[in-house]
Amino acid sequence: MADSIDPAKVPSLSLVSGARIPCIGMGTFGSDRYGPAEVSAAVSGAIRCGYRLFDCASVYGNEDLIGKVFEDAIGSGEVKREELFITSKVWNDMHGKGNVLLSLAKTLRDLRLDYVDAYFVHWPFPNYHAPGCGGDARNPLSVSFSADRFMRTWEEMEKIVGMGLAKHICMSNMTVSKLEAVLPRCGIKPALIEMELHPSFQQPELFEYCVKRNIQPVGYCPIGSPNRPDRDKAPEDVVDTELPEVMSVARARGIHPALVCLKWQVRRGSIPIPFSVHEKNYLSNLRCVTEAPLTDAEMAGIAKADRNCRLVKGQVFLWPGAKGWEDLWD
Ligand SMILES: NC(=O)c1ccc[n+]([C@@H]2O[C@H](COP(=O)([O-])OP(=O)(O)OC[C@H]3O[C@@H](n4cnc5c(N)ncnc54)[C@H](OP(=O)(O)O)[C@@H]3O)[C@@H](O)[C@H]2O)c1
Repeated sequence: MADSIDPAKVPSLSLVSGARIPCIGMGTFGSDRYGPAEVSAAVSGAIRCGYRLFDCASVYGNEDLIGKVFEDAIGSGEVKREELFITSKVWNDMHGKGNVLLSLAKTLRDLRLDYVDAYFVHWPFPNYHAPGCGGDARNPLSVSFSADRFMRTWEEMEKIVGMGLAKHICMSNMTVSKLEAVLPRCGIKPALIEMELHPSFQQPELFEYCVKRNIQPVGYCPIGSPNRPDRDKAPEDVVDTELPEVMSVARARGIHPALVCLKWQVRRGSIPIPFSVHEKNYLSNLRCVTEAPLTDAEMAGIAKADRNCRLVKGQVFLWPGAKGWEDLWD
């Protein structure tokens, strides 16, 4: 079996701007388990395999090594810059006036690029936690969501589009009520919204809300993030690859349940960004979206797998006086 996929065979989607984006990308968060060297080696392998979309972020702490990979791949002629769709995100401690540009400037220097294809506001709060912290960690400076404060950051995001440093600006970890509060005030609407999406957490309301407004959903933790940081693990969490609805499709097709999760997401119309440092896995993740999409009946079966099981609860971003992680998602 070939160890690469022709990128032209990977379906793509059209954004409101007219730009095309591959229907699947690769995540680059090492989940506090894989260091920058391992993640950047995987990015290099993934370019070789045919990936063209990469989901980066300054807080993942690996953009400098990933940038070396991009520089080498573009410099050697393996791939042209315009064939890549590279995203990054402003971290919570860099919201507000002036900081967005500073943050993007560092990311561009690290990634060795002149522009990113998409720049996200990573979380709609300026709240941050120490890298690698435990689930009980709280920052006493944390605050609840404010549309006014968010818009001050978004206005900075709009400026970087005018400067040609980001082709698209985007949001992540939003809810319908937060979008209702900010979308009417946006001079430039978000092109993409990154949200947690996997069979046990389908977010139908948020997903439909975005689709209706021509905002492309991007699904993180698409396989149910089995190796997520310990702070994001709770005893009641569901394992997506063990859901009966997912396993029955996997068994019938003779494929790994992880691939069923990805095929489900692509057929539904969102863009999964699975992570792996193992070539066997990231290659099969890419290949699966070029082969035999799920049928209507299989899609209907997996629609029933929703357990409303949010994995990235974000409790480390809670502010003094907040009752619980649900407060982040109102
Ligand atoms: N915007 C946000 O706030 C946010 C939050 C979380 C994540 N993200 C993004 O989303 C990306 C993906 O999320 P994630 O890494 O948490 O979860 P994920 O992609 O659902 O799960 C990754 C895990 O799945 C395993 N895996 C991948 N392909 C597999 C396959 N074919 N068969 C079996 N196992 C497979 C990997 O294990 P092996 O390494 O052993 O292959 C890896 O540990 C991140 O890397 C990041 O870029 C964004």
